[in-house]
Amino acid sequence: SSGTDENFAGTGQKRQRNDAGNKATVVLGAQWGDEGKGKVVDLLATEADVVCRCQGGNNAGHTVVVDGKEYDFHLLPSGIINPKSISLIGNGVVIHLPGLFEEGDKNDKKGLKGWEKRLIVSDRAHIGRVCSVELLSCFSTVFDFHQVVDGLQETERQAQEGKNIGTTKKGIGPAYSSKASRTGLRVCDLLGDFKDFSTRFKNLVHQYQSMYPSLTVDVEDQLKKLKDYAERLRPMVRDGVYYMYEALHGPPKKILVEGANAALLDIDFGTYPFVTSSNCTVGGACTGLGIPPLNIGDVFGVAKAYTTRVGIGAFPTEQLNAVGELLQTRGHEVGVTTGRKRRCGWLDLVIVRYAHMINGFTAIALTKLDILDVLDEIKVGVAYKLNGKRIPHFPANMDVLQKVEVEYETFPGWKTDTSAARKWNDLPAKAQNYIRFIENHIGVPIKWVGVGKSRECMIQMF
Ligand code: GDP
Ligand code: IMO
Ligand code: MG
Repeated sequence: SSGTDENFAGTGQKRQRNDAGNKATVVLGAQWGDEGKGKVVDLLATEADVVCRCQGGNNAGHTVVVDGKEYDFHLLPSGIINPKSISLIGNGVVIHLPGLFEEGDKNDKKGLKGWEKRLIVSDRAHIGRVCSVELLSCFSTVFDFHQVVDGLQETERQAQEGKNIGTTKKGIGPAYSSKASRTGLRVCDLLGDFKDFSTRFKNLVHQYQSMYPSLTVDVEDQLKKLKDYAERLRPMVRDGVYYMYEALHGPPKKILVEGANAALLDIDFGTYPFVTSSNCTVGGACTGLGIPPLNIGDVFGVAKAYTTRVGIGAFPTEQLNAVGELLQTRGHEVGVTTGRKRRCGWLDLVIVRYAHMINGFTAIALTKLDILDVLDEIKVGVAYKLNGKRIPHFPANMDVLQKVEVEYETFPGWKTDTSAARKWNDLPAKAQNYIRFIENHIGVPIKWVGVGKSRECMIQMF
């Protein structure tokens, strides 16, 4: 609130402090994705006024189960389920327009009415992947421009280095590359002078065709479709920065930011190059929406009670054995976006602590505890060793990470069904012990424990 600040930087001057405004609550993945962010956002969204996506694209797949109905969201914020809240897609997101409308229409059929009236899209968001399914419909109705490039790049990686990244092939890397190389096209360009937009669109197509000569594009057909999308999108588009400023500085409002992907997939802090192309850590909430750091409130980290990873890359606690198979089948660990089986292993507290170093979590949501119900014993990775010596940091170099030896702590399994537990005291003592250990080791309070897919299956601790 307003007030006079004490001594400013030792100058003896007093300065006036502005009204700090409302704070945004941020929900972030603390592992390699699919921790259950959608479910945590859904829980908080019942009270939120604005729910925002700040980064990523439809590489994300967030599942929410309400009244026995399962919704999958890729580009729409999971809060779109709440008819009383506004959903915002921020400038940091790369939007696949046909994908967005397809997703909305699909959910509309499931009963999600009026979503277009509750959605706001930032005019600064990139539509690099607007070159969509239709773009290449002249010869294919399955792939799109950036998706094709994504696929071609994967083939190149495989040929040159003998390994690819295992991307979702949604064109995320190529879209963010266009943004960084300053040839990308944004929502405001699409809604501006269409002649200018068309020229830039053609230039972008040429740029890609010079890199990938096999790429065929029916430009005129595409521009016609884009014009139609522009009109459907127009009523939803706002200046995202000003919208957010008003939300932060107007009357009290609950603002929720839904992270996509996760800390270990972050372009700067993740297991590079086996990462996605955006900042999935807390800074992404600021840059992807135009929120000042001062207006960031709670930062909730979501972590599964074990670890999963989709795609390629180091995974120190991976269990290529019966335990991994059990976690995969019991946990239904299949990618929402790609349908690929997720790789599974023990909870790795080294990575969760690393995610906490970057994000400064104020609390943790620990999900899928129920999946561990049948295990005789449960292990938790607590430290990495190199040449027999513990290392205090998380290695940047993937060759080093491949070589670490994980030090485990072993816990007896509780061998009890926890899926009906609704409060702390309903949990078996051995499960409570497991949770308390995790909390102490990360040094962050656990606020929720997930014991099932639906909304009610979330034990709130405080
Ligand atoms: P997100 O990408 O982080 O939103 O997570 P996903 O939706 O991709 O994957 C999480 C999966 O776990 C979804 O199928 C959820 O319905 C499910 N889920 C979330 N929390 C729990 C839980 O506590 N127990 C069980 N059994 N399933 C859960
Ligand atoms: P949510 O939001 C799990 C992974 C891909 C691949 C790498 C790069 O559901 O947690 P990309 O298509 O982004 O270029 O792929 O990142 N990946 C995810 N894995 N959950 C996600 O999102 C992911 N988003 C990207 O599998 O390894
Ligand atoms: Mg997911």
